[in-house]
Amino acid sequence: MPVLKILPDIYSVGVIDWNVRSFHGHTYSTNRGTTYNAYLILDDKTALVDTVFGPFSEELIANIRQVIPVEKIDYIIANHVETDHSGGLPALMKLCPRAKVLGTAKCKEGLYRNYYGNWDFQVVKTGDKLSLGKKALNFIEAPMIHWPDSMFTYCPQEELLMPNDAFGQHYATSIRFDDEADPCELMDEAAKYYANILLPLGAVILKKIEEIQKMNIPIKMIAPSHGIIWRKDPMKIINAYLSWAKNETKPKAVVMYETMWGATEKMAGKIAQGIMDSGINVKIFNIAVTDRTQMVKEMLDAKGLIFGSSTHDNGMLPNIAGFLQFVKGLTPKNRIGCAFGSHGWAGGAVKEIEGVLREAGINLTREGLLVKYAPDEDELKRCYEYGRDFAQKISSSVI
Ligand code: FEO
Repeated sequence: MPVLKILPDIYSVGVIDWNVRSFHGHTYSTNRGTTYNAYLILDDKTALVDTVFGPFSEELIANIRQVIPVEKIDYIIANHVETDHSGGLPALMKLCPRAKVLGTAKCKEGLYRNYYGNWDFQVVKTGDKLSLGKKALNFIEAPMIHWPDSMFTYCPQEELLMPNDAFGQHYATSIRFDDEADPCELMDEAAKYYANILLPLGAVILKKIEEIQKMNIPIKMIAPSHGIIWRKDPMKIINAYLSWAKNETKPKAVVMYETMWGATEKMAGKIAQGIMDSGINVKIFNIAVTDRTQMVKEMLDAKGLIFGSSTHDNGMLPNIAGFLQFVKGLTPKNRIGCAFGSHGWAGGAVKEIEGVLREAGINLTREGLLVKYAPDEDELKRCYEYGRDFAQKISSSVI
């Protein structure tokens, strides 16, 4: 990534990872790659806010050297211990061993357990300030947004918030700012990030945004540690987070299924048609062949979630089982759902799906729909009516 001055004496010195296609141990598809953003602040003292993923350490160091000798860094702010932001620390600390690392107490523990470096570490808390000369850095702990160690750093002189993962996107691009980016791609990636990483943490996020609003700190720019910097309209992403964190939904359904020989797929098509004919927006995905990260993003603003599976060995098929395990962890709130599927001799998949949906906190609006072997004309009509009924329930319950 080209080094770029984003504000007076503040430089973006991070890197672009064009080719990464999966993240978090393959739980997140990064189809558009990602960036690891780091920010260098020059003053009487020099501070680096966050580093990059370890394999990109040399590129980060070369970027810093375009601005100052790397040995001049006095402080490294570790907003987050996860290795995509802290991985550059071991290489940097070899070059500037007298630099002080600052982060939360949990960050100190996590960094040690990851790298076992005997670095000079200063634990900071909400309200602590670090003077660099004319500029200062204020720290705001942000536990569980999205790890216990997470922290935001704020520079009041430039009204710049550096919130690490929050408000970020896995979006590799040479464009650095929201006003230069394709707005659809940008919001698509921001929503995907929220849905897949932050969805279970809505209550914490709402509280943190409220706390920051009460601090009355002006925010002219939000510079996250992945993707695009928000400078034209930082409120756009804050308002989107507020809506997502409140679990606000639209009159929309997502039908997700896995099928053995096509019977459950036929059911899915008819259910979706009933929903569509009722004027409700619907998306249909065969889980076995669809990108999971994209499906979760589609669920973010959907009131209705419908899952279907053929029965196999008295239970659901393995791809939907794995997907529902992920959905259970996301605990989508304020959603309604139902289940369907075909079976031969013994059923079991629909009951199993319903069990997971209950555990996930999804409100089951009606009994599951079962068909033996392939659906006949009457059963297809039942599927259609099932879809129409579900659409009605969406219409009457969406906020
Ligand atoms: Fe981008 Fe939680 O790391």
